[in-house]
Amino acid sequence: MEAKVISGGTRFTRLPRSYVRPESERPRLSEVSAFEHVPIIDLGCNDRSRVVHQIGDACRFYGFFQVINHGVSTEAVERMQEVAAEFFRLPVEEKMKLYSEDPTKTMRLSTSFNVKKEKVHNWRDYLRLHCHPLEKYMEEWPANPPTFKEFVSNYCREVRRLGYRLEELISESLGFEKDAVRNILGEQGQHMAVNFYPPCPEPELTYGLPGHTDPNALTILLQDLHVAGLQVLKDGKWVAIDPHPNAFVINIGDQLQALSNGRYKSVWHRAIVNADKPRMSIASFLSPSSHALISSPVSLLDNGRGPIYREFTYAEYYKKFCSRNLDQEHCLELFKNRKRKWLESICNF
Ligand code: OGA
Ligand code: NI
Repeated sequence: MEAKVISGGTRFTRLPRSYVRPESERPRLSEVSAFEHVPIIDLGCNDRSRVVHQIGDACRFYGFFQVINHGVSTEAVERMQEVAAEFFRLPVEEKMKLYSEDPTKTMRLSTSFNVKKEKVHNWRDYLRLHCHPLEKYMEEWPANPPTFKEFVSNYCREVRRLGYRLEELISESLGFEKDAVRNILGEQGQHMAVNFYPPCPEPELTYGLPGHTDPNALTILLQDLHVAGLQVLKDGKWVAIDPHPNAFVINIGDQLQALSNGRYKSVWHRAIVNADKPRMSIASFLSPSSHALISSPVSLLDNGRGPIYREFTYAEYYKKFCSRNLDQEHCLELFKNRKRKWLESICNF
């Protein structure tokens, strides 16, 4: 099928067949419940050891949490949301100038996930940007809307600062000095996906994004305050993360799961769509430098059980991630130590 954006202004009355999931893979929305105890962590709290403790618990038990009083200014957030919404309102011919299905491009508008490879498409358009170093990538960003570069770059700077702060707290929660995690990750890359999910005529039959884990280190997600859609797999059940005012949703990516020797979870999450309203979410990803060697520090190697995963570079991991479909088994499974796999099969741990 010729792929093209779904944010072109036409309202669909039927879901095109190429988006329809087989019966067994559908979202079963009536079985999803609201998440009752979303960890909401107040980063403005003066008691650092309390915050460290809360973050450690959230990463261990949930793999995600929300943060408030996070230091990213309301102005930066609002401008980011405004300019992103304005971008998706541009005439389709204007947007299509940026369209590409080549995942190696550092700036592109695209649709679904990996249009060329996937069997079933997802009800999503997205603008993907590289954001670090800003001086290198900003030039290629959209020139329209005219305020795009200014607003988005400000937002990126503030979000990066928040990401560093969270990595320091995560580092301390694992019993390390605050810089330890950042030192392992090296000079981190930063990417952004501005996700736009138009109203979908048959939301029961498809996804905005199917269940996946994020391959990077840390994800900082700005959800649409008025339209829910993010769901997380908790104890085998999909639960909805309802938007919280002035909060970011933070989730642990595959790299922090590997680095923490499995203590912290890179959880499955998905975006569902709805029939009434468009939804936008803005995901910022921090990822290790491509040469960074990801392995767990010795203190986390659990009395002789050893590392769960073999050592790898982020470049190696990302290549593997991109060669697969989004909703296959956890990509980290492919990096498990053979000995560990064998022990798991006989000892049940
Ligand atoms: C993502 C993602 C969720 C959402 O972009 O990786 O999980 O709510 N997005 O859009
Ligand atoms: Ni994700």
